[in-house]
Amino acid sequence: MTITHADTAARTPVPTQSTYQSRVADYWNAEENPVNLELGKIDDLYHHHYGIGDADWSVLDEPDPDRRRERVAGELHRLEHAQAELLASHLGDLTPSDRVFDAGCGRGGGSVVANLRYGCHADGATISAKQAEFANEQARKRGIDDKVRYHHGNMLDTGFTSGAYAASWNNESTMYVELDLLFAEHARLLRRGGRYVTITGCYNDAYGRASREVSLINAHYICDIHPRSAYFNAMARNRLVPVHVEDLTETALPYWELRRKADHLVTGIEDTFLNAYRNGSFQYLLIAADRV
Ligand SMILES: C[S@@+](CC[C@H](N)C(=O)[O-])C[C@H]1O[C@@H](n2cnc3c(N)ncnc32)[C@H](O)[C@@H]1O
Repeated sequence: MTITHADTAARTPVPTQSTYQSRVADYWNAEENPVNLELGKIDDLYHHHYGIGDADWSVLDEPDPDRRRERVAGELHRLEHAQAELLASHLGDLTPSDRVFDAGCGRGGGSVVANLRYGCHADGATISAKQAEFANEQARKRGIDDKVRYHHGNMLDTGFTSGAYAASWNNESTMYVELDLLFAEHARLLRRGGRYVTITGCYNDAYGRASREVSLINAHYICDIHPRSAYFNAMARNRLVPVHVEDLTETALPYWELRRKADHLVTGIEDTFLNAYRNGSFQYLLIAADRV
């Protein structure tokens, strides 16, 4: 019997997800950290990223323990929200008919922020089925599910329509994937002149290789933090031309200082982040790029 190439291809099962990606999905399916859920409950905006800006330290002086916890959570949430707004402010002049792609969308806060700001359509993708379900339920409750949708899938291979997106982003989700594969997918989805934005932790090439702290963060989150240079190299190879680069490291410190004092919210990684930022081995960066 002769087997043609087409026959073979049709019969070969192609794994859609690597073992590593399944472990990442397991992590996010099981994740219920108070720092993510308690903060999200405040106004039903669920952010799974860190915060920026000056903190109101008076929250720590609150004498009533319950009220203190509430005020600290509120302040951390305000700083996380400021980070999401900063990212959204770099997405370009979007209109309600535009469509945006939220890659590695978590429980969905970023797409809601973009929709509230621009009235645009949004598609989020997360490798966690549980997160996608949770985020869709939130969109339904807000009455924006006609425009904001979350998909359980791999952001490297979304199946979404080529060139249909005016903007796209990764908010703290690039460290789970190979950058060339990720940026190829963004370049495919974005229309010419579309805007890509990422806010990410990266290790500092000027320091050298990944520091002990960076390795600890990798182990804590099951991720693989890239060096700063890798972003620009991979963007250049994938039709993404940086238009704005901002080092947010200094402005990220108050969030971590406050969070390490929030005994009901700490996850144990707070001091590692502070040490990594302070010893110069790790940077918190915003990169906005045009799809050319
Ligand atoms: C730190 S969370 C950030 C979530 C969200 N961007 C935010 O700012 O709230 C990382 C996210 O990346 C997602 N992720 C990791 N690898 C992925 C992949 N290959 N495809 C889709 N999502 C992925 C995880 O499911 C998780 O939602």
